[in-house]
Amino acid sequence: MESIENLKSHYGFTQQDVENLKSLLPVMSGYRQAFVEEFYDYIKDFENTPRFLKDEQVIRKHQDAIGKWFMELFSGEYGYPYFRELERVGMAHVKINLPAHYVNAAMHFVKCYIDDILNREIKDDQELVHIKRSVDKILDINLDVFTCSYIEEEKRVIFISQKVETYLVGFARRFSYGLNLVLMLGLVLLGVLVMGLFAYDLTHVFDGDIEKGLLATLGSLLMLWVVIELMDTEVQHLKGKKFAIKVFISVALVAVIRKILITTLSTETAIGQQVSLVFAVAVLGVLYWLISRVED
Ligand code: HEM
Repeated sequence: MESIENLKSHYGFTQQDVENLKSLLPVMSGYRQAFVEEFYDYIKDFENTPRFLKDEQVIRKHQDAIGKWFMELFSGEYGYPYFRELERVGMAHVKINLPAHYVNAAMHFVKCYIDDILNREIKDDQELVHIKRSVDKILDINLDVFTCSYIEEEKRVIFISQKVETYLVGFARRFSYGLNLVLMLGLVLLGVLVMGLFAYDLTHVFDGDIEKGLLATLGSLLMLWVVIELMDTEVQHLKGKKFAIKVFISVALVAVIRKILITTLSTETAIGQQVSLVFAVAVLGVLYWLISRVED
């Protein structure tokens, strides 16, 4: 699958689309049950449907999954967890050898079904056009991910066994997502510790050592800013955006600036050390600027 960010940008999926889809949630909630029923009414005519939806238990499970999938279209959350779920759905269909054509045809029904609701519910013509465009985008993105599962399966080279490899890939994905959550927790903890450092540095001001207190406090505030940047980057990453490498440079930059602030207070610091720190800031600054230009 393309990266989440590429997928969204290739379909021109913007924040406005997110808002448009989210605004439909209350209306669409009222149609959840009817949607599932009509969806089933539509796919029951495909000649091989009973081969895939073979008993009451599978049908009930699928109906529940379809209802949830329908509501998620309007959740307003289209980050990493959303796309992970879409990949899972795509793989579920591939695993049972469901023809890709069935999914495409079913998606065509979904498009028409939502179109009919929008025509009934939205009176303003201009608004109707915009909302329909957002719905088209999210449905096309869904179909894109589902289709990719079929293509990836065709391209896949089996090394040991398909079952083992599917399990391993799924496990690796879940594990990497879990690690991201651990990283997030670590950053929250770090934020709390830096706030403690900030309070400690502030005590120097009240101890009478105003210069040391102010400079050290400034240093810890800079660190707090870096932790916020790191957290923000990680949240954006979990939402599906590209990881901003420049944040790592800013961490190093802030660490060196803090060191300069502290060493300026010490009379024992050699001038050579000060110069090398300033040089390091200059190099990191240029790197930061270059990476920002590339990333932007
Ligand atoms: C827009 C089209 C479709 C969507 C959005 C969709 C959605 C889903 C979802 C959300 C799942 C559950 C995946 C999981 O949790 O593992 C699923 C599984 C499945 N789907 Fe679909 N589906 C579509 C079309 C179809 C069609 C046309 C058929 C059959 C004619 C079908 C048959 C199945 C079956 C048999 C499963 C596995 C059920 C199980 O044993 O758990 N799907 N689908």
